[in-house]
Amino acid sequence: MNLQYPYNVLIIGSGAREHALAWKIKQSPRLNKLFVAPGNAGTSLIATNINIHPLDFNSIKQTIVENNIKMVVVGPEEPIVKGIADYLTQQHETRHCLIIAPLSEGAKLEGSKSWAKQFMLKYNIPTAKYHIVTKQTIQEGKEFLKTFNPPYVLKADGLAAGKGVLIIHDYYEACKELEEMLNGKFGEASNTVVIEQFLKGIECSYFILTDGEKYTILPEAKDYKRIGEGDTGLNTGGMGAISPVPFLTNELRKKINDLIVHRTVYGLLHEKINYKGFIFIGLLISNNEPYVIEYNVRLGDPETEVILPRMKTDILELFESLFNGTVHQCKLDIISNYSVCVVAASKGYPLEYEKGKIIYGLNHLSSEVFHAGTSWANDQIVTNGGRVLVVSAQSPTLKEAKQKVYDSMQKISFENMYYRSDIGFEF
Ligand code: AMP
Ligand code: GLY
Repeated sequence: MNLQYPYNVLIIGSGAREHALAWKIKQSPRLNKLFVAPGNAGTSLIATNINIHPLDFNSIKQTIVENNIKMVVVGPEEPIVKGIADYLTQQHETRHCLIIAPLSEGAKLEGSKSWAKQFMLKYNIPTAKYHIVTKQTIQEGKEFLKTFNPPYVLKADGLAAGKGVLIIHDYYEACKELEEMLNGKFGEASNTVVIEQFLKGIECSYFILTDGEKYTILPEAKDYKRIGEGDTGLNTGGMGAISPVPFLTNELRKKINDLIVHRTVYGLLHEKINYKGFIFIGLLISNNEPYVIEYNVRLGDPETEVILPRMKTDILELFESLFNGTVHQCKLDIISNYSVCVVAASKGYPLEYEKGKIIYGLNHLSSEVFHAGTSWANDQIVTNGGRVLVVSAQSPTLKEAKQKVYDSMQKISFENMYYRSDIGFEF
């Protein structure tokens, strides 16, 4: 690695996770210029947005060359699973650029749930019992379902925009859904289906940064996925998050590290998978035992918006450490404060919603605001998505952090704004 400071960085993506990454990277003395592709109104205030689709790898390559970019940080899963890191490291012009994302082989941890389950089985990583089904083995699948009590868990093998997991209470309905999935309900993503044992417990998002051999553990978070108060209603991309997670005792952390994190990285090494990036481990804690519900090969959204404000470490130094074998030695300076974030969404999300509403009250807040679906229209910031923005606040106590975040949220408004008023309610 031959980096000269300061250098230019490109972030790929357009959500609040990418705005939070941009906010954090901006604090690094190693940064020269920051670019975000395609970004949103929020990132345009602190970086240069470049209007390129995250899957347009050729245009991304050109942008890297034209702007002398030395590091690319990839936010969302789709370009990662579709091989952005493979493409950029294979192209002559971009082969020396540091790509913070795994190659597509390692991205199978998220891109193929059946592959991830077989990986967990091979490396003895605790996870729910499962059976992999294709059209040819559907009958076997129906028999396997009978071995469980309801509810039944069906998962599309591939990426399905966060909609590929079904939890069904009736056996016959589960069989019908299984048929529909194998007949293309989620397109190619459900040509293979993973049937899983339902685990009862509480969920938590755990994050590591790894070079495929060594790793460092980042702060964890709890995500509130349902649209309604008290965790009710439809699943969303996430309506808020808190960090740290109060129920994660030191005993549990040790089990997670020994049984899951260590074995996961060992597995990557043993499989000779060259992995440089984040692993987001979706955990379920049942009877004080941790299980892996899913792997993701990126940071979570909205988890990132509570995690990064707790990290004092220079994030570019941390990213560089993936390429010089020192990631495990990087001193993570984590603030012990509680961090809470709340998502402001367009009414109707996660179903139909309107866009183009002017957003008021974004200035002079005592909390950070990370933009998600926002854009510019006639010099004003307007809504441009279901999840519109994320307010994040930190404080020594969870109660104060919640107070602070909701005080700021009350000062922001747009037509048909909706947010959950109970993030962190159970603690
Ligand atoms: P995702 O994969 O993020 O769409 O998540 C689907 C959600 O389904 C998870 O967050 C869990 O709440 C739930 N889930 C997935 N697998 C299981 C399982 N084996 N047992 C219980 N709940 C599960
Ligand atoms: N908040 C969950 C995710 O990013 O997948």
